[in-house]
Amino acid sequence: MTAGREPDADGAGDGGRQAIRKLAPGRLVIASHNAGKVREIGALLAAYGIETVSAADLDLPEPVENGTTFIANAELKALQAADLSGLPALADDSGLCVEALGDEPGIFSARWAELADGSRDFGEAMRRVEAQLQDLGPGTSRDAHFACALTLAWPDGHSESFEGRVDGTLAWPPRGQNGFGYDPVFVPNGHNVTFGEMDPEAKHAMSHRADAFRQLVAAVF
Ligand code: IMP
Repeated sequence: MTAGREPDADGAGDGGRQAIRKLAPGRLVIASHNAGKVREIGALLAAYGIETVSAADLDLPEPVENGTTFIANAELKALQAADLSGLPALADDSGLCVEALGDEPGIFSARWAELADGSRDFGEAMRRVEAQLQDLGPGTSRDAHFACALTLAWPDGHSESFEGRVDGTLAWPPRGQNGFGYDPVFVPNGHNVTFGEMDPEAKHAMSHRADAFRQLVAAVF
C-alpha cells in the first residue's frame, strides 16, 4: 500500500494519485533511536547509494507516537525528523495484530509488554495475548499478522508510505530463542515453526518489514 501526501496536481487522470517521488542518492535520516534497527536499515540502503545517519546521532527528539494507525505513527516520526534535520527521513512502526482481539495489540504492541517499573517483558505480553484469547473460549480464531509501516518523508512535508504484512497463527506455549518481541508465538502461514525457532535469514526474507521494504525499494529507487 502506498500513500503520497500531496494534493494531486499532475492532471494525469490517475484517480488523484501523484507520481511517487524518487529518492536521490545522498544522506538519509533513520528516524529511530534503536541502534539495531538503524544498522539493519542502513545495510539495506547502502546498495542504493544512500548514506544513513540516525536520529540519535543528530540529537533529534523522539516524538510522542499518538497516531491511531501504523502509517500515522511512521509518518509523524519521519516528518518530524525530515523537518528538524533538513534531510529526507525514513521511519517505521510495526506490531502484532490478533484477529479475534480486534487487531490488538496492534500499535500498542510494545506497550503491552510494559511493566509497572517501565521495563519491558515480552513473555508477559505474550501471556496477556494468550489470556485474552482463552477468555474468548474454545474455537476462537488464532489468526494473526505482523504489520510494518514505512514512511519516507522530505523536508518540504511530502511523504510516501508503505505497509507490509505477514500472516500466520498464534502458538502456545512460546517456542524458540531467535528474534524478539512476539516472535516465539508467531507461526507464519505455510510453516510449522515459530519466528522464534526460524533462522533469522528465513524470517527476514518473509517478514512484514521485508514486505514493506520491497514495496519502498520498488517505488522510490
Ligand atoms: P516498534 O515498531 O519498534 O514500535 O515495535 C513495536 C513492537 O511490535 C515491538 O516492540 C514488538 O513487540 C512488536 N514487533 C514488531 N515487529 C516484530 C517482529 O518482527 N517480531 C516480533 N515482534 C515484533
